Amino acid sequence: MDRLLLSASVLTLLILSFFSEVNSASFKLVNKCRYEVWPGVLSGANTAPLSPTGFALKPGKSRTLSVPKAWSGRIWARTLCTEYSPTNFSCVTGDCGSGKIECAGSGAKPPATLAEFTLNGADGLDFYDVSLVDGYNLPMLVVPRGGTRGGCSATGCLVDLNGKCPRALRVAREGGGGRVACRSACEAFGDPQFCCSEAYATPDTCQPSVFSLFFKHACPRAYSYAYDDKTSTYTCASADYIIIFCPLPYTRYNYYYMLLICCDVLFNFSSTKFYMG
Ligand SMILES: *[C@@H]1O[C@H](CO)[C@@H](O)[C@H](O)[C@H]1NC(C)=O
Ligand SMILES: *[C@@H]1O[C@H](CO)[C@@H](O)[C@H](O)[C@H]1NC(C)=O
Repeated sequence: MDRLLLSASVLTLLILSFFSEVNSASFKLVNKCRYEVWPGVLSGANTAPLSPTGFALKPGKSRTLSVPKAWSGRIWARTLCTEYSPTNFSCVTGDCGSGKIECAGSGAKPPATLAEFTLNGADGLDFYDVSLVDGYNLPMLVVPRGGTRGGCSATGCLVDLNGKCPRALRVAREGGGGRVACRSACEAFGDPQFCCSEAYATPDTCQPSVFSLFFKHACPRAYSYAYDDKTSTYTCASADYIIIFCPLPYTRYNYYYMLLICCDVLFNFSSTKFYMG
């Protein structure tokens, strides 16, 4: 009997250490918006799905997800969602088309601001970015905590772009109401020049456009078009991540905002010079 107990506890220990090994990182999703959001999670091909793949997050609330060691995928926030019935759920922005609160393997319908991660990639580094390549629906900030190597900078797009969105890219709520999102030029016009496709499918041939520069000027750290890698991808090793929707105005992570805003201004200056020659 004792022996059975002993082997049971050894087994428990083994299972526990297995899980702590597997769940090596955490994502803390924080809703600082004045409205409810419904985060969506899409895991990349060949990585385990996170659980849950979608949920509601009331203003001021947060939820922490545990993430396996080599996870890759994207996280975004759906807005203006309605659950007509348990199998009829849809959102005005970022909808994943699953008909349910959980996205269950479906991605965000553009436009939506995306946080993208490849954890434990080349050289054991996490690669992360905030992307406006599929358009924009709300401000987002990604802050790594406790990283051991790499730059570990905060990144994101702090500005509310819905009001400032160029007319041709605007998305307004059906039946009146305010502007709710801002499309990418690729999605709005489908032009290969904006989509970096066909004859423009390389970093040299696909250049920033007036539209991608609109996003880049407002949010210098975020991806503004497909080949914006140089100024938009960040690295950190063995970190946990805080993902904040609508980060401003804010109190607790002020230090990061200060840093980000300060660097954004400097960065914008140099990137503007770079793009404008
Ligand atoms: C969901 O419910 C709304 C409101 O009742 C309705 O207009 C819509 O067609 C429904 N969608 C589906 C997929 O059933
Ligand atoms: C970045 O530069 C552009 C053009 O010079 C300017 O319009 C914009 O306000 C700047 N953004 C920030 C965050 O300073």
